[in-house]
Amino acid sequence: MSGGHDAVEVIIAKRDGAELSDSQIDWVVAAYTNGEVADEQMSSLAMAILLNGMNRREIARWTAAMIASGERLDFGDLSWPTADKHSTGGVGDKITLPLAPLVAACGVAVPQLSGRGLGHTGGTLDKLEAIAGWRADVTNAAMWDQLQSVGAVICAAGSELAPADKKLYALRDVTGTVEAIPLIASSIMSKKIAEGTGALVLDVKVGTGAFMKDVDTARELASTMVELGTDAGLHTVALLTDMSTPLGLTAGNAVEVAESVEVLAGGGPADVVELTVALAREMLAGAGRTDVEPADKLADGSAMDVWRSMISAQGGDPDAGLPEARESHVVAAPATGVLTRLDALAVGMAAWRLGAGRARKEDPVQPGAGVVWHARPGDQVTEGSPLFTLLTDDESRFDRALESLDGGFDVEPDGSSYQPSPLLIDRIS
Ligand code: URA
Repeated sequence: MSGGHDAVEVIIAKRDGAELSDSQIDWVVAAYTNGEVADEQMSSLAMAILLNGMNRREIARWTAAMIASGERLDFGDLSWPTADKHSTGGVGDKITLPLAPLVAACGVAVPQLSGRGLGHTGGTLDKLEAIAGWRADVTNAAMWDQLQSVGAVICAAGSELAPADKKLYALRDVTGTVEAIPLIASSIMSKKIAEGTGALVLDVKVGTGAFMKDVDTARELASTMVELGTDAGLHTVALLTDMSTPLGLTAGNAVEVAESVEVLAGGGPADVVELTVALAREMLAGAGRTDVEPADKLADGSAMDVWRSMISAQGGDPDAGLPEARESHVVAAPATGVLTRLDALAVGMAAWRLGAGRARKEDPVQPGAGVVWHARPGDQVTEGSPLFTLLTDDESRFDRALESLDGGFDVEPDGSSYQPSPLLIDRIS
């Protein structure tokens, strides 16, 4: 018992559907962080929250308590305005790589704290670590210096940022309590608010390859996060975007870096360019810069210049060749016709099984592993021509990856069932 509370009383209150008071929330989050509340007690509370929910006040207070568990960064004294983006995670989602330098090239600095991938969605840090010499760990002081001089940093969050969330997320992962909107929203927003960005754009993915499989739950998560950001004084907007089809033409680490560099060179797949530019416009608007057109900065090479400086500043060689997988396997189109469906989850699972992702936090990833697809839904394909190239260092992985792709795409002779699905589904502010 401490501060007039004990864990069992808080668990029972939420179990019975009551609202938690501010002081109950402050106490339980702080006491869990310092070890006074045990893992089994917090997992029980997390399950009660998953089943009975939390209202707006409770979620805001829970978020504030997680922020207060650690340090808060402050970039208010930079000579640039700041904006960041968070994606809820998808397959082939390399958007951060071209986006951060692009927004910096437009005059808004991007302090992007990213994570490593777990499961079928890739992690931005894993992708960048495919670049020879590049380091994810940057001190707060070096982050400030790089933001001031280059305008963009993508790095790992330090252990002092929202430590309550680090502990709770690991617990949720093994107790079936990840999929609770109040817990997801407070987890993401505590880190983004503590990171000290001035504006935030949330890319909330919807579809088979995403956390949120349907538009209604994605919209609820997006609105919850936008409210949390707005209440904390952070200019926050969310885009709901499609993740039933993977983004671009690649899923993996080195292959996604290569595709990002194509976008920065003014090319790249149309959907990756469309989403990068749409998110850049939102980030710039959030930071008060509606006078710059991001597409121009892809075309004139200035985003590429920032990319090169950003990679070099973290020890990477932007001119180094990217790692290549030792083994490859081509899957040919089974028929001539139109590719009418390409399932994001199937592709994500295949890339993961090839070694691009990890099953446990401590596993290494293969930088060269992944999947390249040679057509997007709506494209014509010819029987026998390459449809996928699977890449791995370990050929024993091909069979399981092929099983994941099985049933994950359709080729139809006349393509009459093909329904293009819009990439940008909704905007919530
Ligand atoms: N990402 C996070 O950071 N937290 C969650 O709870 C879910 C996704």
